[in-house]
Amino acid sequence: MLLPLLTLLLTLNNNYYSPYHVSAEVVETCSNIVPFNHRKHNISITEFGGVGDGHTLNTKAFREAIYMITHLGRVGGTLLYVPQGVFLTGPFNLTSNITLYLASGAVIKATQDTLNWPLIAPLPSYGRGRELPGGRYISLIHGDGVQDVIITGENGTIDGQGDVWWNMWRQGTLQYTRPNLVEFLNSRNIIISNVIFKNSPFWNIHPVYSSNIVVRFLTILAPRDSPNTDGIDPDSTSNVCIEDSYISTGDDLVAVKSGWDEYGIAYGRPSSDITIRRVTGSSPFAGIAIGSEASGGVENVLAEHINLYNMGIGIHIKTNIGRGGYIKNITLSHVYVEDARIGIKISGNVGDHPDDKYDPNALPVVKGIIVKNVWGVKVLQAGLIQGLKNSPFTEICLSDINLHGVTGTRTPPWKCSDVSGIALQVSPWPCSELISHEPGSCANYS
Ligand SMILES: *[C@@H]1O[C@H](CO)[C@@H](O)[C@H](O)[C@H]1NC(C)=O
Ligand SMILES: *[C@@H]1O[C@H](CO)[C@@H](O)[C@H](O)[C@H]1NC(C)=O
Ligand SMILES: *[C@@H]1O[C@H](CO)[C@@H](O)[C@H](O)[C@H]1NC(C)=O
Ligand SMILES: *[C@@H]1O[C@H](CO)[C@@H](O)[C@H](O)[C@H]1NC(C)=O
Ligand SMILES: *[C@@H]1O[C@H](CO)[C@@H](O)[C@H](O)[C@H]1NC(C)=O
Repeated sequence: MLLPLLTLLLTLNNNYYSPYHVSAEVVETCSNIVPFNHRKHNISITEFGGVGDGHTLNTKAFREAIYMITHLGRVGGTLLYVPQGVFLTGPFNLTSNITLYLASGAVIKATQDTLNWPLIAPLPSYGRGRELPGGRYISLIHGDGVQDVIITGENGTIDGQGDVWWNMWRQGTLQYTRPNLVEFLNSRNIIISNVIFKNSPFWNIHPVYSSNIVVRFLTILAPRDSPNTDGIDPDSTSNVCIEDSYISTGDDLVAVKSGWDEYGIAYGRPSSDITIRRVTGSSPFAGIAIGSEASGGVENVLAEHINLYNMGIGIHIKTNIGRGGYIKNITLSHVYVEDARIGIKISGNVGDHPDDKYDPNALPVVKGIIVKNVWGVKVLQAGLIQGLKNSPFTEICLSDINLHGVTGTRTPPWKCSDVSGIALQVSPWPCSELISHEPGSCANYS
């Protein structure tokens, strides 16, 4: 009983020690992954006619400011300052060597002019928009082929005003896939920190075909019933560090992806080397998700010190027939989950297909998944592991997991099929497919 209790205490304190190394450790942070460059120049959006009255449309001001920054060729980079005020705008593109700085009380607010929202090409790894065939609406803040971009400030807000988009989704009147709030494509050395994201039309932050991405000190909010408002979705992207953030939305808080079925397989770009730590939040879907679109492969993911409240599923590793690719070397540790439908789910039958051209023989490989030090209370169902008959999930290791049900009701047992691996000190006991082993043996799987 001592170890689980210790785990609980450590988790509740949001402490950074593992019960396996109780001595003090240096707190790890993302701070040395991407240089936080200070800019030589500082211009304000107001110098380009920007007006923060909540009514004036500032699309032209943002586009002109960024055009200037791009074409002046100033050495040392430029900070684009957004002062206190509500700056209504349509979508705009970022450039390299820029800091978009939101002062305290600054709000960049998306217009609700969905009719004039520009479209861009679908991602090749998806073959179409994620929601509907054809192109997709460009993200509010977009960066394609950029490097050294920082979005930061004094916790100003980027508000997507997503309700018009959510209603189009609900009414079935959407023509194309909804816009993300921020998307980076083919980009590197990106920092997003100290900003509040609110009411994204679709996913909040979507780095795709990119590398060296740091996301920290964020608050991401959207109503619980808002459709597909994922928090952060690294997609075919490597070297990502997400930390110290609070995310409460209508869909997965963090979901690591890498393309969809035959398009993702052909594109073949994995997501790898991803750290997620000290993230707290709430969602009717998953806290930490891998997939379901993982056709380019996902590997080397570490998520630790995650605190989840009022959840659909705590941890969800999800894939499907036709996905191909792999999900391997994933470690989740020190997860506290309170009030959840399901604690841990690893499953091979989740998500839809882009079209009927997917290859039913393209089976994903799920291998080397370590889940340890999980404490759950009021978890209706502890766990579910459903591998694929012709591609069983292997090297699954569960250790030091305690999932408590709702007082007075019996927690249903784990359900497992087509899975092999190890279970150590797991309560309720998972299933006979997972065999008990000597402590420490999870390490062989990473
Ligand atoms: C940039 O300029 C604004 C005024 O336009 C000023 O308030 C702000 O402090 C400056 N920021 C930096 C980092 O110099
Ligand atoms: C923004 O970038 C996209 C994709 O790179 C491009 O299609 C679009 O024309 C750009 N928009 C503006 C206003 O420059
Ligand atoms: C950004 O700055 C770096 C040096 O700091 C420079 O090498 C690079 O060309 C700049 N990029 C652009 C697109 O201006
Ligand atoms: C902004 O928010 C972050 C994360 O919530 C917090 O750590 C930080 O102290 C805040 N910064 C300011 C300037 O308010
Ligand atoms: C597995 O992933 C971890 C990050 O969680 C990484 O440190 C380790 O090197 C990876 N192992 C292999 C064999 O790539």
